[in-house]
Amino acid sequence: MFITFEGPDGSGKTLQVQLLADFLKRKGFPVFSAREPGDTTIGEQIRKVLMDHNNAAMHPRTETLLFCAARAQLVEEVIKPHLVMGEIVILDRYADSTMAYQGYGHQNDLNLIARLLDFATSGLEPDLTFLLDIDPKIGLARRQSSGGEWNRLDAYQIHYHQRVRAGYLEMAKADPSRWKVIDASLPPDMVQSKLQNLLLLYLSDK
Ligand code: TYD
Repeated sequence: MFITFEGPDGSGKTLQVQLLADFLKRKGFPVFSAREPGDTTIGEQIRKVLMDHNNAAMHPRTETLLFCAARAQLVEEVIKPHLVMGEIVILDRYADSTMAYQGYGHQNDLNLIARLLDFATSGLEPDLTFLLDIDPKIGLARRQSSGGEWNRLDAYQIHYHQRVRAGYLEMAKADPSRWKVIDASLPPDMVQSKLQNLLLLYLSDK
């Protein structure tokens, strides 16, 4: 099974991925989790280029291709082998991030991005996607006050981040069987218990 987490910056995805992976392990499931972009030697190098404030001149198409390049490597080197081993793979961001940030955020042609993502992932789609939805103003403020990394992409204007959020909500609405939306402004333990309930419900339907 392949589960992905999506959401605007500062939605608390990383903590929730960790907590859900621990929950599943306690239940006896074999679990593997990773983050995007990165988690391969090549992917981490691409991540540095993407996040570096010195690369403010990066064109949105360059940015799109770099995210897709990191993902293609992750799919082949990490995701597919772990799925083949029968593990539950949980990813902190995947192809939908590119659709939200580079597609909706940068207002690129969404059909073109979809084709590019199909190429980069060789058509591998998640079974279940959790959208941790939050107003980007709250998310970015959270990110800044927590002293977390403030990268080149966080520094895009608020309107950009609002388009990203709206894009996510549109994708979730279009495919409710894959997407489950959770209000990420709730306290983290409540977010986690909602996630666990949604996942158990999903598994019991299978
Ligand atoms: P990261 O520090 O990992 O943030 P987060 O904890 O919010 O995931 O930085 C990832 C940044 O890259 C984040 O701003 C979202 C952005 N991003 C894209 O723009 N496109 C993509 O395809 C991916 C995977 C991430």
